[in-house]
Amino acid sequence: MLEGERLMIKAKNLTKIFNSGFLFTKNVVAAVDDVNFEIGKGEILALVGESGSGKSTIGKMMLKLLKPSGGQILLDDKDIWNLSNNKEFYSRVQGIFQDPFSSFNPIFKVNRVFKLVRQSFKKEVPASEWNDRVENVLKKVGLNAGEVLNKYIHQLSGGQLQRLLIARALLMDVEVLVADEITSMLDASTRVDVLEALLSLKEIGAAIMFITHDLSQAYYISDKIVVLYRGSVVEMGSIEKVFSNPRHPYTQMLLDAIPQLDSKWETDRIDIEDSDKTHATWKEGLCKYIDRCPITDTSCVKPILKLIEEDHYVACAKL
Ligand SMILES: Nc1ncnc2c1ncn2[C@@H]1O[C@H](COP(=O)(O)OP(=O)(O)O)[C@@H](O)[C@H]1O
Ligand SMILES: [Mg+2]
Repeated sequence: MLEGERLMIKAKNLTKIFNSGFLFTKNVVAAVDDVNFEIGKGEILALVGESGSGKSTIGKMMLKLLKPSGGQILLDDKDIWNLSNNKEFYSRVQGIFQDPFSSFNPIFKVNRVFKLVRQSFKKEVPASEWNDRVENVLKKVGLNAGEVLNKYIHQLSGGQLQRLLIARALLMDVEVLVADEITSMLDASTRVDVLEALLSLKEIGAAIMFITHDLSQAYYISDKIVVLYRGSVVEMGSIEKVFSNPRHPYTQMLLDAIPQLDSKWETDRIDIEDSDKTHATWKEGLCKYIDRCPITDTSCVKPILKLIEEDHYVACAKL
């Protein structure tokens, strides 16, 4: 994809099948179906798609919280499941999720959270230098050390906590961050601060997977985008190309719903969660978008991703 970037993390034929139910109610879901992408150093990739499209499952597989049914996640060309040292892995790869409160120990004050980072990952840094670093990263994410360090977790807002988690990732010098819907519990006014904090992590060269169902936020901070529909990639590429020239009918439908891209994004947000989902005529081997597609009959075969211009891929048999 984008050239000249050093590759950091890559999904190769990534697949996850969930089996649920029993006997006659047995249900097999390909939550993630042969997905490929890569994120280079200092790149932000937006993973978008409606609820249930497989975004969190991909995030969990990148974080080694869920094992793929097929394919791999490669970190600098090594399958993460072949890396035996989990402590080292999590010093390089971290996740931030929708609910920031669940990521903290409620009986800790904020300064204890940062002390633990030093103890666990950065023992070599002297305490006085560490305090300077803490102050610096807090400033970077728009927080005041004097204001937050002596507070308990419950004394801070959701937006402040998400920024603390980004500050923590900055202190750890993480190489990969998976951010799964990290602004969805926040109100509009604090979302921007969190996105800006994420950009400071990009600045230190982290590869960031930004999972969202908000296309305006994706456009605001990302370099490239993967559009997921029922576990499959329907379109991907540079964010500029996909947004200026969407080719898949699903992407077109999503983008048509945004009034003006260049206007203030926080007032024109568009959520693509909970759109109507019917899979009445779909059968294995056919295009998954068949029931909603405005440009085809019901016989389109499962398409493969095709390069239609530099840094821009689309999976549609009609193109
Ligand atoms: N542990 C699980 N067991 C069975 N099915 C699951 C499990 N986790 C997710 N799924 C299913 O996988 C699909 C993708 O889910 P998810 O990755 O959470 O989507 P998203 O994050 O895009 O909303 C959904 O159909 C969901 O019901
Ligand atoms: Mg999710």
